[in-house]
Amino acid sequence: MNEATGNLDAAFWDRARRHLVRYGADFMPVIVEKAEGSFMTDASGRRILDFASGQMSAILGHSHPDIVDTVRRYIGELDHLYSAILSRPVVDLAEMLARLAPGLLERVLLLSTGGESNDAAIRMAKLATGGFEIVALSRSWHGVTGAAASATYAWSRRGYGPAAAGSIAIPAPDSYRPRFGAANGYDWQGELNYAFELVDRQSTGNLAACIVEPILSSGGVLEPPEGYIAALAAKCRERGMLLIFDEAQTGLGRTGTLFACERDGVVPEFLTLSKTLGAGIPLSAVLTTAGIEEKCYERGFLFYTTHVSDPLPAAVGLKVLEVILRDKLVERARVAGQRLRDGLLALQQRYECIGDVRGRGLLLGMDLVEDRETREPAPDLAQDVLRRCLELGMSTSIVRGGLGVFRIAPPITISDAEIDLGLSIFDQALRDATQ
Ligand SMILES: Cc1ncc(COP(=O)(O)O)c(C=O)c1O
Repeated sequence: MNEATGNLDAAFWDRARRHLVRYGADFMPVIVEKAEGSFMTDASGRRILDFASGQMSAILGHSHPDIVDTVRRYIGELDHLYSAILSRPVVDLAEMLARLAPGLLERVLLLSTGGESNDAAIRMAKLATGGFEIVALSRSWHGVTGAAASATYAWSRRGYGPAAAGSIAIPAPDSYRPRFGAANGYDWQGELNYAFELVDRQSTGNLAACIVEPILSSGGVLEPPEGYIAALAAKCRERGMLLIFDEAQTGLGRTGTLFACERDGVVPEFLTLSKTLGAGIPLSAVLTTAGIEEKCYERGFLFYTTHVSDPLPAAVGLKVLEVILRDKLVERARVAGQRLRDGLLALQQRYECIGDVRGRGLLLGMDLVEDRETREPAPDLAQDVLRRCLELGMSTSIVRGGLGVFRIAPPITISDAEIDLGLSIFDQALRDATQ
């Protein structure tokens, strides 16, 4: 491969170094020229299996034909409008989300990114309750914009001055490395009771909301134990707090139900969707009840953005939902997820360094450890395996912050053969990195 056109293209990397702001992770040593289905193609013509759905978003794979048709049509006839002008795709998508969502979450705000959707939900929760204190889990990721960043604890918060007043963290539930009652099993109820005792001590009497991912993805693919979310909801209700579920990554089928919160049988006051809703196109949504929306409206709710209620992304979101339902992709995620989990569990039998396999559907975590007894994380080994996976033709993701957890989230359109290919690449990469 010619150096000027392959991944080593020195001029490309030189221009990238000179002109791009670096924003959080080292750039991977590939230049991607094309992405289609479950694969990307790099500048050396190599196909790379995308086991991370882009940034956990491309649930239908890349350039799904129905999405391509929709974008082509809408960019040609109805792209973007003045923010106070409505169009049919916006109302159609709002209606469809209201119909599909659990409970009576029948009012919808359509925005662009996950951070924005959480900011909007938090603003509404503050306005509706009159409070301002926001409780979040200690390994959460809700975005890098204002209120979402204040409720995000999975990454370093250092260097940007104070977070919003009233930001309160409680321990993220961690069944693999429990902090409460480890000898007799995980006493998550004891942990939660203690967490809210601390919330009550810190609160100035202005609790507004608690924001939660039904599975904490960036925090290490932590799946709260059954019953945890319902118990958390009860704690919130006792205190008059509103519950916000952030289903950026878990929403729209990935975990084997359309919304991950269905497993927990809890309906929040707010459900936020992003990443998977646009399947790669920037689109997010806040769903809430009519009662909350009415109250916020009366109190002058403002969240007026350039791309609020834009027709093109709304049309894409509508098509994403249509394809997921038409092609029965929720069930597919459950079946494919089981195949992937079985494969990872088989690898765990062979590699001592795989301490835990967890998650649901096609959002799985593989936790690499130094020692199965102590469960000490192995972040350096995880980096080596990640690097080797890419060399072998697979892109995947590891969570940051001293953990060694792979976050595995391929498109829910993935075939059995592609899952098996991913597993064989993991097998080879683990072998090479541990020899
Ligand atoms: C659960 C969750 N919420 C919110 C966000 C933020 O979304 P965005 O980056 O689109 O603002 C993310 C991004 O990783 C996420 O994982």
